[in-house]
Amino acid sequence: MLKIENLSYLVNNDGKDILKNINLDFLEGKIYVITGPNGSGKSTLVKLIMGILTPSAGKISFKGKDITNLKINERAKLGIAYAFQQPVTFKGLKVKDLLNIASNKENDFNSLCEYLSSVGLCAKDYINRPLDDKLSGGELKRIELAMVLTRNACVNIFDEPEAGIDLWSFENLINMFKKLSSTTIIVSHQTKILEIADSVILLKNGAVEKIGKYSEIKPYIQIETCGKLRGENE
Ligand SMILES: Nc1ncnc2c1ncn2[C@@H]1O[C@H](COP(=O)(O)OP(=O)(O)OP(=O)(O)O)[C@@H](O)[C@H]1O
Ligand SMILES: [Mg+2]
Repeated sequence: MLKIENLSYLVNNDGKDILKNINLDFLEGKIYVITGPNGSGKSTLVKLIMGILTPSAGKISFKGKDITNLKINERAKLGIAYAFQQPVTFKGLKVKDLLNIASNKENDFNSLCEYLSSVGLCAKDYINRPLDDKLSGGELKRIELAMVLTRNACVNIFDEPEAGIDLWSFENLINMFKKLSSTTIIVSHQTKILEIADSVILLKNGAVEKIGKYSEIKPYIQIETCGKLRGENE
């Protein structure tokens, strides 16, 4: 479905290798969780997949087609959707406008309600809310998740979807991921999210350290390198 070959990302000014020679194969319908210490390159990797950043070397292909040089909107049209670690606000737009733009159609109240309730928001309270800084961090994050859901994409990418989502029961978030039929790529430090992965990708210092089921990877997610996993013994 999505293949990454020898992908590298260097920062020009100091020659730092943020990602080095990454090779990954994301299969259709599977859930992948990318984890690793802060600064290991997780967000950089998913931004390269979405086309937000341009790689210094390497190739990204989607359904057999080379997409390395495609722009974000071209990748979005092919069926790749992305939720930012830090959601962005859009001045002048309401929640319903954002969801309609994202899904490229005029959704009726019931569909909007379905998308919003699957991220724990009640549609009647939110569809007419402006997308501004009056929304809390957690609300914005959920709206962004709903926006990704409306896209119905083949590949869904979520960068730390749990960040800021405290009140919404964690089970709902997990169920939402499980229900997706897409290839799902989630950047996360959360044990419960790591547990639902078909494959966990452990990044360290810009390179893939290990890939496997969470049970196999767990011993390598060391406290000294990754910090304490969230959700463990809490
Ligand atoms: N344009 C840039 N110039 C210099 N350094 C950069 C640049 N972009 C990213 N970095 C550095 O690259 C490293 C990887 O960043 P990235 O955001 O991918 O980490 P991450 O694994 O997502 O971390 P976190 O868990 O904190 O979200 C960090 O050390 C970051 O400071
Ligand atoms: Mg990050």
